Parts: sequence; C-alpha cells; structure tokens
Amino acid sequence: MIPVPVAAERNIKNAAERTNKMETLFCVIDENDPRKSAKIFEKAAEIIKKGGLVAFPTETVYGLGANALDKTAVKKIYEAKGRPSDNPLIVHISSLPELKGAAAEISPKAEKLIDAFWPGPLTIIFKKKDIIPAETSGGLDTVAVRFPENVAARRFIRACGLPIAAPSANTSGKPSPTSAQHVLNDLNGKIDMIIDGGNTKFGLESTIVSAVGDEITLLRPGSVTVDMLCEIVGEIKIDKTILTKPDENLRPLAPGMKYKHYSPLCNITIVKGERETVLKNMAELAEKAKANGEKTGIIATAEDRAFFENTDITLLDLGYESSPETIGAGLFKVLRTCDDMHLSSAFIKAFPERGVGLAIMNRLKKAAGYNIIEVR
Ligand code: TXA
Ligand code: MG
Repeated sequence: MIPVPVAAERNIKNAAERTNKMETLFCVIDENDPRKSAKIFEKAAEIIKKGGLVAFPTETVYGLGANALDKTAVKKIYEAKGRPSDNPLIVHISSLPELKGAAAEISPKAEKLIDAFWPGPLTIIFKKKDIIPAETSGGLDTVAVRFPENVAARRFIRACGLPIAAPSANTSGKPSPTSAQHVLNDLNGKIDMIIDGGNTKFGLESTIVSAVGDEITLLRPGSVTVDMLCEIVGEIKIDKTILTKPDENLRPLAPGMKYKHYSPLCNITIVKGERETVLKNMAELAEKAKANGEKTGIIATAEDRAFFENTDITLLDLGYESSPETIGAGLFKVLRTCDDMHLSSAFIKAFPERGVGLAIMNRLKKAAGYNIIEVR
C-alpha cells in the first residue's frame, strides 16, 4: 500500500484510498493550536459514541480505541486488526475514579502500584465488574486497566467520557505502531480516524501485571521494570513464558503472549556473546547471506556502528547502548524498516536482559522467532 503523505498545512484530511470502503480521517495534533486540537478530540468522541474506531497516541504505542462497554464496537477492533477474539483488550481510563467502574476488587498491593506508576506505562489486571462485556475481556472474569500518561490520550478518553478498549493499533502479527504513519500503513480504510500525536515516548507496549488475589505477577515486561515493581511491592512472580520460549502446551497468563507477535517478514537473527566476537560474527553472517544473493542488513547501536562502516552491508540504526530507553523507543520502527526495505534477513546483537532490556529482548526474541546464535 502506498502511504498517504501528511500535508503539513492541513490538520484534518481524508486519508482513504479509492479502493477502500471506509474513509479514515487523519488528524494531526498541533500543540500551538489548542482550538483545532479541541475540535479533533470532539470529532473523535463523536465517532466513539457512535460505535466507531479511533487510533490514538499513548506514551507506549498507538492504541486502536472503541467504547469498552459496547460489544458491537469492540468486535470491530478484532475485525480491523484481524485479531483472534479470545485475546482480551486493555481498558483505558483518564482519571483514577474511573477505575471503580471497571474493577470489582483492588488489592492493597495494586493500590501501591497505582500510587507509584499511574498515570504511566503500567497495565494492571483486576477482577472485572459485570458492566465490562465478555467481548472486551476475551471471555475472562478479569479486566486489564491502564491509565496513560500521554496528554493526547487522556484528552481523547476524557472527551469520550467512556472507558476506551484499545489494543495496539497494528495489523495482528505486525510490530506495534510507534507513529501515526505506522497505523495508517496498517489500518487505512479499516478504521474511522487516526489522531497523530507524533512518535511515542517509550516505543514498547506497557508492562502488564496481574493484581488478582494478594500477589503481583508480571505477565508482560515493559518500561516499568521488575526492579521498579519490586521496590514498591517487594517480591513479585514472573510468568514463565516471559523468560523462555513458550511451550505450545503452556498457556501464558496474558493470552496475547501466545500469538506470533511483533514479527516482521524479514528473518531476524540475534547474535549473542562477547561484544567483539558478536560484531565480527554479525559481519561474517551478513556477508555470507549477501553472497547467497540475499538482501540483508545489520541493525546496530550508535556505539557499534563504526565496526561495520567499512563493509557494504546495509546498516540500520537502533539507539544508543548507553541509553537502553532509546533502543526500546526505536525497536519496532527498525523492524518495520526491515520490511519497508524488503530485506530478507537482518542481524542484531543480544542486549543484557536487565531493566528495560528484559522487555527489549522479550520483543526481539518474538520478532526473531527465537532464532538466536550463541558465539564464542
Ligand atoms: O501499551 C499498551 O499496553 C498498548 C497501549 C495501546 O495501551 N496496548 C496494548 O494492547 O499493547 P494489546 O492488546 O496489544 O496487548 C494487550 C495484552 C495482550 O497480550 C492481552 O492478552 C493481555 O494484554 N490482556 C488483556 N486483558 C487481559 C486479562 N484480563 N488477563 C490477562 N491478559 C490480558
Ligand atoms: Mg498488540
């Protein structure tokens, strides 16, 4: 599909292609023009109240929102994304009191996490209230709730006056969108509106914990790290499927973690070991792939870039090792770039699985289909 260029002089435009059934409004938030922004949120709220779909920015990735209480609207999310219907959605709120509308029980540990990390990139799972339909909760008796920090996200939810069910706004199986252009590339003509709030801050989906019962269990690592969680609530449990390649027979506690996720068409190989050896092997592997007629690339941090500059292998930049957050923020974009460039293979080194590195490696391993080469 040919991406529609965003006309800088127009904030609202019709981004649909002639062949598509639905017209997708593409609206750019301009912080210097509050009146225009207010109109965008008004329009978005009107669409949501009528049961439509609006993609919106958050600090993690873009979300595809619908009225969480309207099962017909929620079903449209699954259709637009091509997502299996047993995969529950996160319910987004714009103020703390709204939590009581969705969660039936809030444990003392959950209260502590809310105090420490909301609004922010942490999703918490609670026992659900009956008002949340089975379509939103994927048939479970629990509900995942998130209070985002992103100002545009909160203004959008507040304008709707409703809890907003939203998965990541990508086609199911593709890397999550970290820009409005990614959403447009995937969902143009399938949803009513896209709110463009620029690139997302963290670039990795939220950390998910279950707070059902007395314990806290990590279901998906993210920018709120294990250490940050433990500092607030003491020891936590970690779902087995986070650390190891999921066993076909093992059911992850977050149903979505079982699907082939974050996966570009390009074959990603992770190379693991001591730095110099890893870089040398990455260059050799890429040269070999190239000699076999493959269109191949190397994904490198700023610190490693110089090592490959004398080769004629395509280099793709991914953040700074000295600031792992920049690697998280750029990961999904670089995976999408591999496909945009029609690379058939790409090589990347393994990062330490500490701090946000746990989330980075969790997504990277899935993108690579657990294709990891250990070198000595
Ligand atoms: O950062 C994020 O969390 C983004 C933004 C838009 O908020 N959303 C997002 O949603 O990543 P999604 O649908 O792509 O991932 C949600 C994950 C899925 O793996 C799903 O299975 C899990 O959360 N989940 C949702 N409700 C759950 C529940 N009640 N119990 C267990 N897992 C749940
Ligand atoms: Mg997703």
